[in-house]
Amino acid sequence: MAQGQGAGPADEPVLLEARRGAVLELTLNRPKVLNALSFALLGALSDAFGRAAGDEAVRAVVVTGAGRAFAAGADIQELSRVTAGDFLGTGVFDAWERVASFPKPVIAAVNGFCLGGGMELAMSCDMIIAAEEAVFGQPEILLGLIPGAGGTQRLPRVVGKYIASEMVFAGRRLSAQEAERLGLVNRVVPAAQVVEVARELADRIAAQAPLAARQAKAALRAAFESPLAQGLEAERQRFYALFGTEDQREGTRAFLDKRDAQWKGR
Ligand code: CAA
Repeated sequence: MAQGQGAGPADEPVLLEARRGAVLELTLNRPKVLNALSFALLGALSDAFGRAAGDEAVRAVVVTGAGRAFAAGADIQELSRVTAGDFLGTGVFDAWERVASFPKPVIAAVNGFCLGGGMELAMSCDMIIAAEEAVFGQPEILLGLIPGAGGTQRLPRVVGKYIASEMVFAGRRLSAQEAERLGLVNRVVPAAQVVEVARELADRIAAQAPLAARQAKAALRAAFESPLAQGLEAERQRFYALFGTEDQREGTRAFLDKRDAQWKGR
């Protein structure tokens, strides 16, 4: 299934959607413009995450890009035309928020350029697998802008104030290897393997107890969005909540029976 039309070969969808078991794979598909995030692409991405949020059969999502980029940021053609007023009411920033607040784990398979809004998209995901050639950056300052979809907030929380400042003030880019050293990516793999490695990780996650995965995601989010005491309280409540589930009883029973657990998502 595919959503949205836009730049690229005529009638080629800007976002490709494919299901592999319990994993939804989304491919940003505007390779001629390095998957620049046009309003059409952001809308399709937002819709896809909106649908998948309520689809119990989807337990993890992999996002990647077609061609030599993950995404080279917002579409500069469009940015050159819009006014501040155009952003209001368009819901254009919903896409990043939909990804960040998506209730199930999301993995970015970063196959190449990962810049501006593209980097903010990757940072809205829970895990990042990067190709050896991947390049990360927040180059908005070079356009007379600043990051607008979370870059000034999420980046320093991961790489620290000093590297984030250099990236945001001077447009410094990071290689995949630097990004790995700074804890911005989970691992770096040859380009040909980046989607495969992300799939394997997604499959492993999708095989876990789904209610626990959701609670784990919500608890981890709290680590970045609330003071420690509040985050600890949120974690404790979510821990308690799992004790009412069939899966928690099945998980502990299966361990004691020395067999694999059969998760029901209840
Ligand atoms: N928007 C629109 N088109 C883009 C684009 C973008 N963000 N990035 C690349 N393209 C287009 C280029 O214009 C070019 O199109 P043509 O073939 O029609 O000329 C095509 O993609 C290929 O790009 P290049 O020829 O530039 O490829 P390169 O290998 O020489 O350079 C690059 C690659 C370093 C990524 C360079 O394209 C680049 O710097 N792109 C812009 C990156 C950027 O500034 N992103 C931030 C956008 S602002 C933002 O994202 C705001 C936000 O936070 C919400």
